[in-house]
Amino acid sequence: MSNYPVIAIDGPTASGKGTVASLVAQKLGFHYLDSGALYRLVALASEKLGIDVKNAAELGFLVPKLLISFNNNQILLDGEDVTDAIRTENIGLRASALAVHPEVRTALVGLQRGFRQSPGLVADGRDMASVIFPDAVLKVFLTASAQARAERRYKQLIAKGISAKLSDLLQDLQERDARDSSRGAAPLVIAEGAKVLETSDLSIDQAVKTVLDWYQSVIT
Ligand code: CDP
Repeated sequence: MSNYPVIAIDGPTASGKGTVASLVAQKLGFHYLDSGALYRLVALASEKLGIDVKNAAELGFLVPKLLISFNNNQILLDGEDVTDAIRTENIGLRASALAVHPEVRTALVGLQRGFRQSPGLVADGRDMASVIFPDAVLKVFLTASAQARAERRYKQLIAKGISAKLSDLLQDLQERDARDSSRGAAPLVIAEGAKVLETSDLSIDQAVKTVLDWYQSVIT
């Protein structure tokens, strides 16, 4: 592993970690890894191929065959722009279902660690601090109440022109929380040494500032 600094930001679904992590990366001029997008890409590709989410072996074999590229704000899968296609609730639930398999998780490790490049990386996900970058210089567990997260997700989807129902979203995210936290392989946990950031009552700017302040205090 290289020595470039990593800020790991983990947390439950719709906690805002993606927004906060990418803004922190921007401010520091660091690279940004949206690890959830990788699970979503596996979900989309396997759906197209008709692979069952329970078929751990076939899903594991599929991962190294995928041609994934992150191009500014665009995500390409085998040359096709799938930036919006991977953001649906259906793909999110499918991603969470296949993320339980160690075969899938192991196949994605190298790809994720490859994002650690000069001058540094901000990585967001569920197991960034616990499994992928255990030597992260700063570990943040970013969370918010289920209600606040459902409302954020609702606004996000509506803004994108995707129709949604708040009560369904709340139920989906509680299901996903339960599955992400209880699975055997790399469950969503507050890593040892992680600082908890409760964002129910924080603006995005306040959350970003807190992470940047914490980072300054660990490197000075
Ligand atoms: O947008 P949201 O936070 O709901 O999900 P995401 O970060 O895009 O990740 C989609 C799914 O992938 C999650 O529900 C997790 O089950 C899984 N995931 C994971 O297992 N490990 C990661 N490092 C990132 C995502």
